[in-house]
Amino acid sequence: MTAILVAGGAGYVGSHTVVKLLEKNQKVIIADDFSHSNLAVISAIQAITGQSVKSYRADLTQLEEVKKIFDENEISGVINLAGYKSVGESSQMPLHYYRNNLEIMLNLLTVMEEYDVYRLVFSSSATVYGNPKELPVKESAQRKPTNTYGRTKVMIEQILQDLAESDSRWRFISLRFFNPLGAHKSSNLGEDPNGLPNNLAPYITQVAIGKLPKLQIYGHDFPTPDGTSVRDYLHIDDLAAGHVAAMNNLLDSQDETSRFEAINLGSGKGYSVLEILQAFEEAIGKKIPFDYTEKRLGDTAESFASIEKAKRVLDWVPTYTIEEMCQDTWHWQLKHPNGYDNE
Ligand code: UFG
Repeated sequence: MTAILVAGGAGYVGSHTVVKLLEKNQKVIIADDFSHSNLAVISAIQAITGQSVKSYRADLTQLEEVKKIFDENEISGVINLAGYKSVGESSQMPLHYYRNNLEIMLNLLTVMEEYDVYRLVFSSSATVYGNPKELPVKESAQRKPTNTYGRTKVMIEQILQDLAESDSRWRFISLRFFNPLGAHKSSNLGEDPNGLPNNLAPYITQVAIGKLPKLQIYGHDFPTPDGTSVRDYLHIDDLAAGHVAAMNNLLDSQDETSRFEAINLGSGKGYSVLEILQAFEEAIGKKIPFDYTEKRLGDTAESFASIEKAKRVLDWVPTYTIEEMCQDTWHWQLKHPNGYDNE
């Protein structure tokens, strides 16, 4: 049986995607450098699925390390979730971001071509749209990211488009996902940020368990109903299902022409920071203290996805409510107050 290689398979999105693939009886190989993830993820995946999974601690910026994985396994498709993803850090260390994110992708593509593997799902991001002019954001909207991290995503999409045009064997799906929330229903897989969380949900839950004193809400004079910024949140389990649907779509594809498809994954609905905070307060059963502070540089007022293409092409629909997303995030945090470390 051939395997799907999940690059970055020990991360937040990767680990949930691996579980979904294993549950569909798909053989999986994980490659991860574990710089932003934890080895405990592998045993958690095995405990949840009751299956063993082969994993490589690999630095995918090194061509030889990528080759070794393809040499030792029969791989039919790749899901690439490996890359740095902090918006703020990317602007402070652009070279670090360009080198890492682009080298990983170029190495994977080079070796895939060498081993005749022409199916790739790429983890892109809603950040490619920057400040969208029309809502909900369609895939045809202009790509105009406002940060280095987003530009690495656009550059990689461009590389994939060029390859698809150059050789009819390639099939690519670039998943532009919005804001993932939630955790596995077992509460044994979840988001475990290094250090101070950048993102809203882990910040809220760390305030709730007493690790952080207060939430800072970045701005309250956006042109939105309550003045706080609006985003499209989707459950990590739905996001994982979207990755599996995209990979299956590529593996089943019969047409002669190569293609590159960009597809949004989101809930299609927008929630403000205050609405998310309220949903968390209900899930947690207590008030979360907060202050309003300055807007964060580059933050857009409002962004939510058109998910028509995901429905049409992938037969994918989001299935979780915002309440479930907040409950699952909270349950993970409660069960693992220090994340995967120190357990
Ligand atoms: N926010 C706060 N306080 C915080 C953290 C966030 O008020 O401590 C606000 C932000 O201003 C924003 C919202 O909460 O309005 C969500 O912020 P996140 O940092 O959680 O998410 P972003 O929308 O800024 O970005 C995330 C990922 C990006 C990805 C993008 C896609 O971090 O990598 O979603 O929409 F590209």
